[in-house]
Amino acid sequence: MICQEKLVIVSYTQQSGNNKPTTIYSGIGMTMILSGYQIGEQVYAGTRTLVYRGVRQQDQKPVVIKLLRRDYPSVSELVQFRNQYTITKNLDNEGIVRTYSLENYQNSYALVMEDFGGISLKEYTSATPISLADFFPIALQIVTILNDLYHHRIIHKDIKPANILINRTTKQVKLIDFSIASLLQEKHKLLVALTF
Ligand SMILES: Nc1ncnc2c1ncn2[C@@H]1O[C@H](COP(=O)(O)OP(=O)(O)OP(=O)(O)O)[C@@H](O)[C@H]1O
Ligand SMILES: [Mg+2]
Repeated sequence: MICQEKLVIVSYTQQSGNNKPTTIYSGIGMTMILSGYQIGEQVYAGTRTLVYRGVRQQDQKPVVIKLLRRDYPSVSELVQFRNQYTITKNLDNEGIVRTYSLENYQNSYALVMEDFGGISLKEYTSATPISLADFFPIALQIVTILNDLYHHRIIHKDIKPANILINRTTKQVKLIDFSIASLLQEKHKLLVALTF
């Protein structure tokens, strides 16, 4: 079920030193309702994706829920969305955000994941420039995670600050967003083994 409420965004442009509203754009803001979950703050609204914090009601576990933004996603969007679940669901690695379930949600899916209190490195570094003392432990964690993934024959293919989370307090780092990741075939295993 989805509740819709009107959202009006007014943008201002500076004309002759006079700040006047020049563009009025009306869109639809959405309140998300997913059975079995209490939905909290929205943590991300991208062009394709919405991400919320929430609580799984059966055990009060804090979770993060990712959705496709469009009411009628294309087949390729759905396939990519499923891909991140398929690739990560059996991964038991502290460096990868745990995937709990893939729920049906309207004409699409909702991906339910671990909430370890992380924010993206993009957000983390935009607030404060990263110090060298911070940089090395973060870099070391990232290469260790990538090495572990490589041994599971998984290539993430979209490593960037927005897809790396960090907990501000513990400084623990975890990867997210396996939408375009690949799982190499068994025949490539030898190649992986030979390179290490
Ligand atoms: N488990 C999580 N914990 C905390 N924040 C998260 C989590 N998962 C996603 N996010 C936040 O949501 C953002 C978008 O998530 P993700 O990278 O999975 O989406 P996306 O597929 O790249 O979306 P788009 O293509 O619309 O940008 C992340 O950069 C991060 O800020
Ligand atoms: Mg991403």
